[in-house]
Amino acid sequence: MLSAQERAQVAQVWDLIAGHEAPFGAELLLRLFTVYPSTKTYFKHLGDRPDEVQLLSHGQRVLEAVGVAVRHMDNLRAALSPLADLHAHVLRVDPTNFPLLIQCFQVVLASHLQGEFTVEMQVVWDKFLTGLAVVLTEKYR
Ligand code: HEM
Repeated sequence: MLSAQERAQVAQVWDLIAGHEAPFGAELLLRLFTVYPSTKTYFKHLGDRPDEVQLLSHGQRVLEAVGVAVRHMDNLRAALSPLADLHAHVLRVDPTNFPLLIQCFQVVLASHLQGEFTVEMQVVWDKFLTGLAVVLTEKYR
């Protein structure tokens, strides 16, 4: 559970990303697939090397969902319920993949936002993204 101050900090970083979901998301996926190639097993339909158009398109969808989560931090479970159903019941993404995505997301934030993504911001974003992953993976049980 994030405090009011932590929520404000998450939103402050999100304001820098909003409007740039596609390029941030594409880089997130590129890092995920390159650093952790096992994650590509869920994206066989994109081929062995997803092209820029595919990365931008799926990256945008993923980051837009993060934006929804930012706007519904007090009600994540309800806001992300359909997405949780999709990942658990349809895609059957193993929960161990989520920390890998979170790791890559933080590298993207640190490399682009630099001074804005302070150590303090990393702490709150790690907390926020971990909470998001909990909601997206808890329907497996
Ligand atoms: C689809 C978000 C984590 C694999 C999606 C979609 C969104 C999304 C918005 C599109 C849903 C739709 O079309 O209705 C997220 C978020 C994540 C996350 C916010 C974590 C914070 C993961 C992870 C994997 C994964 C860790 C596997 C490594 C997939 C796959 C699809 C998908 C295979 C379907 C792709 C397609 O239809 O082309 N995700 N996802 N997701 N996600 Fe995730």
